[in-house]
Order: sequence, then structure tokens, then C-alpha cells
Amino acid sequence: MPDRPIDLRSDTVTKPTAAMRRAMAQAEVGDDVYGEDPTVNRLEERAAELVGKEAALFVPSGTMGNTIAIKLHTRHGQEVICEARSHVFNYELAMTAWFAGCLARPIATEDGILDWRAIEPAIRPPGPHWAPTGLIVLENTHNMAGGTVYPVATFREVCERAHALGIKVHLDGARLFNAAVYLKRPVRELAESADTVMFCLSKGLGAPAGSVLVGPREAIAEARLYRKRLGGGMRQAGVLAAAGLIALDEMRDRLEEDHENARAVAEILREVPGVTIPHRVETNIVIVDVSATGVPAEHLSQELRRRGVLINPVGPWRLRVVTHYDVTREECLRAAQMLAGVVAHLRRTEGGS
Ligand SMILES: Cc1ncc(COP(=O)(O)O)c(C=O)c1O
Repeated sequence: MPDRPIDLRSDTVTKPTAAMRRAMAQAEVGDDVYGEDPTVNRLEERAAELVGKEAALFVPSGTMGNTIAIKLHTRHGQEVICEARSHVFNYELAMTAWFAGCLARPIATEDGILDWRAIEPAIRPPGPHWAPTGLIVLENTHNMAGGTVYPVATFREVCERAHALGIKVHLDGARLFNAAVYLKRPVRELAESADTVMFCLSKGLGAPAGSVLVGPREAIAEARLYRKRLGGGMRQAGVLAAAGLIALDEMRDRLEEDHENARAVAEILREVPGVTIPHRVETNIVIVDVSATGVPAEHLSQELRRRGVLINPVGPWRLRVVTHYDVTREECLRAAQMLAGVVAHLRRTEGGS
């Protein structure tokens, strides 16, 4: 394997930039549990302003941001509507049940985009037999559906209809800035009708750690207590927030490059016999379906790793390619060609279909 593998497993693997490391070294810090870290305070103000909400809370991870939001909006014994492949349902250790005491009500979609037509039949009013719907969680961009983006009108309609029924909407916007860049709209427009929004600094924006939960002032004050309960009071967290500020101010516009690279990868892979790209490629994620090759995704992933390309399987017949600023256009193309070559080789030598 070469010294530096081409790492397309996730945009979480990005390392802090030189500017981030400088800002981290020089960050003014204090005890954030006392609200005395000036850099964390600046990050929270900046995040709230960008997303267009009253207040923000710096949290260690996206999972913690979602966990707190679900707890804020629900009571024990309610249901939380989410998409079937959503992160909150599949990859957050059942925190909806564990922390908020709620049942997830997943709804399957083709492309990860939950519209009101899909949601409405799943809404449960209070009654003698069923758990009432407490919250709807939408994911923009949708990770496992290949980074798909909510049309602004679809998102707004869900929020308006939910609000009319007294149901809150939380936006899992781990990659919300990718969506904003794709739509060429300010991020606040995408967040406007949601009650709370979580976004990650540590994915395509490149910060080493941290996410932000934004929403109404009162809700965020309560969220601060839940963060402490979950062990997320980080003291001199300004060292991390300093990188987060750079992420917000310097790393957003370049996300378009990642999207172009993802499209270029998809273009190469679409030509490979047996390989399909089941979703629109709108942002920095490409889901690759290899079922028609007869070669399992795990096997392909291992063969690629031996050749210096890291791509994760996300199911028996699917791989996920995620582009980010730590991989160049040339490396993305090389990885896609390598995948094409490995598929062809294994089909020949191992008799895949
Ligand atoms: C859509 C989505 N939401 C939430 C998260 C959770 O973020 P973290 O890994 O920081 O807990 C992720 C992480 O990949 C994600 O893709």
C-alpha cells in the first residue's frame, strides 16, 4: 500500500488545515461550563447568526447534538418520525430510545427525501392505543441516500404542516452547508422553518471535532443542561471552537470542489459493467451499487485497501465514496479507475456475474 492511501471512507477523516492549527494554538480560552470561553462564545454567536436562529450550543459531536434535540422536543413514550436510512435511526446507538425514551417511526423513501405525502399517514394523534408523534427529524443532506438535498419547498411544507399539528421538526444538518452550496442558497434559508438544527464542523468543513445545535434561546439554554448530563461540558473548548470558526469562515465555499469530484467519480463508475449509481449525485457522496457484478462490497473494499484506496462498504452490495478537501481531483479519478479495474479483474478471475 502506498504511504498515503486515498481515503474516501468519509469526510470525517479530514485533518485540520494549517490555518486551523494556528488558530487553535492561539485561541483565547476559559471554562466553557461557566460560559467563560470567549472563543466558544464567538463560535456559538457566529453559528446562530449564519443559521438564522436565536442561539447555539457547541457540542462534541453530531450524535450528541441530535440526541439533545430529540430530548428537547419530546416526552417519554412518544414517536419520532424519521427516514428509514437516517443517521438518527441507524447509527446513533438508539439514542432516541435511550435518552429520550421515544420510539423511532422510520419511513422508507427512494432518495432519502421525506415529503409530507410520506409523513402524513405515519402521524399518530393521541389515542388509547398508540404513541403520539412527538417530533419529525429530517436529514439534509441525506448521508446514506448519497448526499441528496431537500428541495427548499419540500422541507418548508413538512415544517409548516407539522407545526399546524403542533409537531416540532429537527433538522439533522450534519452536511447542511453542502446542501446550501448545492442549492446556491444561504444556509439560513434551508434552516428557516425547522425548530432546531444540528450541523457538523468536523465533516466537509474540516474541523477536527465538534458540531453545533442551534434554535430558540430558551431551548438552547435547556440543551446546555442536557449537554452537561451527557458529559459534554468541555471546559477550555475554545481550542476546538477556534478551528470551528475557521471551518465556518474559510471552508464553506470550497465544498463545491468536493461536489464536482463526486460527480466525476460517478461519471467513471457509471460506465463500469455491473456497477450502478442508484441516487442523484448532488453533493460529496456517491453510493455505488455493485450487486450486478456478483462481487460483494466487502471483498471489493478489501481489494481496494490492498491497492491504497479506502472505500467503505455500506451494505452487502453497496459502497460509499465520500469526497473531501484532503483528496485531490486527481486522487478521486485514480480511485474511481482503480475501483473500475478491481471490479473487472474480480469478475474475470472469480467468476462474478
Ligand atoms: C447525517 C449525519 N448525522 C449525524 C452524524 C453524527 O455525527 P458524529 O459522527 O459527529 O456523531 C453523522 C455522522 O456521520 C451524519 O452523517
